Amino acid sequence: MAATSSSVKLSFFLFLLYGAGIVSAQLTSDFYATTCPNALSTIKTAVESAVNQESRMGASLLRLHFHDCFVQGCDASILLDDTSNFTGEKTAFPNNNSVRGYEVIDTIKTQLESLCPGVVSCADIVAVAARDSVVALDGPSWTVLLGRRDSTTASLSEANSDLPAPTLDLSGLLTAFSNKGFNAQELVALSGAHTIGQARCVQFRARIYNESNINSTFATSLQGECPSTGGDDNLSNLDITTANTFDNAYFTNLLSQKGLLHSDQQLFNGGSTDSQVTTYSNNPDTFSTDFGSAMVKMGNLSPLTGTSGQIRTNCRVVNS
Ligand code: HEM
Ligand SMILES: *[C@@H]1O[C@H](CO)[C@@H](O)[C@H](O)[C@H]1NC(C)=O
Ligand SMILES: *[C@@H]1O[C@H](CO)[C@@H](O)[C@H](O)[C@H]1NC(C)=O
Ligand SMILES: *[C@@H]1O[C@H](CO)[C@@H](O)[C@H](O)[C@H]1NC(C)=O
Ligand SMILES: *[C@@H]1O[C@H](CO)[C@@H](O)[C@H](O)[C@H]1NC(C)=O
Ligand SMILES: *[C@@H]1O[C@H](CO)[C@@H](O)[C@H](O)[C@H]1NC(C)=O
Repeated sequence: MAATSSSVKLSFFLFLLYGAGIVSAQLTSDFYATTCPNALSTIKTAVESAVNQESRMGASLLRLHFHDCFVQGCDASILLDDTSNFTGEKTAFPNNNSVRGYEVIDTIKTQLESLCPGVVSCADIVAVAARDSVVALDGPSWTVLLGRRDSTTASLSEANSDLPAPTLDLSGLLTAFSNKGFNAQELVALSGAHTIGQARCVQFRARIYNESNINSTFATSLQGECPSTGGDDNLSNLDITTANTFDNAYFTNLLSQKGLLHSDQQLFNGGSTDSQVTTYSNNPDTFSTDFGSAMVKMGNLSPLTGTSGQIRTNCRVVNS
């Protein structure tokens, strides 16, 4: 039949494009179903245990995935250690003394290497751990697509240029996310990740001493923990109400000018994203759905698939 024959021709054509690297292989949810059937349950158990020991670890693992995906795509480039002849991303300004969770990923990788040697990529572990972290803190779930492979390279300069700084105004945030293919609604949804976790005094000092779009009671109380000089590493919760629960309180806080970072409050400061913040503060289910969709999209940023990259044995080093 003509229809069948043209669809066979189309499949063959796509196959040729794929072979030529023009169409990239797609990630799939059942990628490890036969090669490592217990991969997902192993990761989930390890994440639950880490979050039980320290609830902030859930936030740290979520951020790790974000900082991986925005630099060269979701390829575990952030996990590579610096050596005398290799410069990784760990000392980039947004990451240095800030990104956490590397040891949890190491623990999971060790378990998976003994269960199914050489099968599960570090990049997929990071993506699944981010989802399991949100779930462990009572947030929404989503289906993580799998089949990412690990990079043999990293980019310090791209980590410095492509990860958004907390000093950005709304227009800068919109640009940073648009550069990765995200619209304003997705920027707002993804920023809702700041409903868990903490930030250092050095990242919000200028806001609590110098900005006017901040609740004064909130600012005064933060000044007690974050002196105008010194105490750079003193921590405060990004969500002052429910720091260890993945809910929509981040957005409600913004309505009363209680965003911790300058960049947080920019999302509700009289600009184009105000209405999206209001929507999420009123509709937790809408936020949950949109956050899950945006996380899947973030997880799809330039993955290495097929025969590109490698499955690292140790997430910190390229295979020799
Ligand atoms: C919109 C632009 C964003 C900016 C400017 C930003 C900036 C920051 C900063 C400055 C911190 C504190 C780091 C420190 O003090 O050491 C932080 C923490 C955090 N960020 Fe973001 N971020 C953004 C978007 C995101 C996104 C998209 C996610 C995840 C989907 C995310 C997840 C987190 C989490 C969970 C923490 C707390 C980490 C912990 O407690 O270990 N952020 N962010
Ligand atoms: C880079 O250094 C590592 C040890 O840090 C070593 O194993 C490796 O052979 C070196 N590679 C090159 C190309 O020099
Ligand atoms: C990273 O942090 C270490 C330890 O605090 C510090 O010595 C180093 O100068 C920092 N590197 C950069 C590039 O900021
Ligand atoms: C606040 O602004 C003043 C004037 O611009 C500046 O001198 C001061 O260093 C700022 N303080 C903080 C904590 O950023
Ligand atoms: C600031 O926050 C405090 C404490 O939550 C609240 O009582 C007060 O009404 C807020 N002030 C303004 C101007 O919203
Ligand atoms: C914050 O830092 C200062 C200066 O290092 C320190 O004296 C203070 O105890 C810290 N405050 C809190 C609440 O950790």
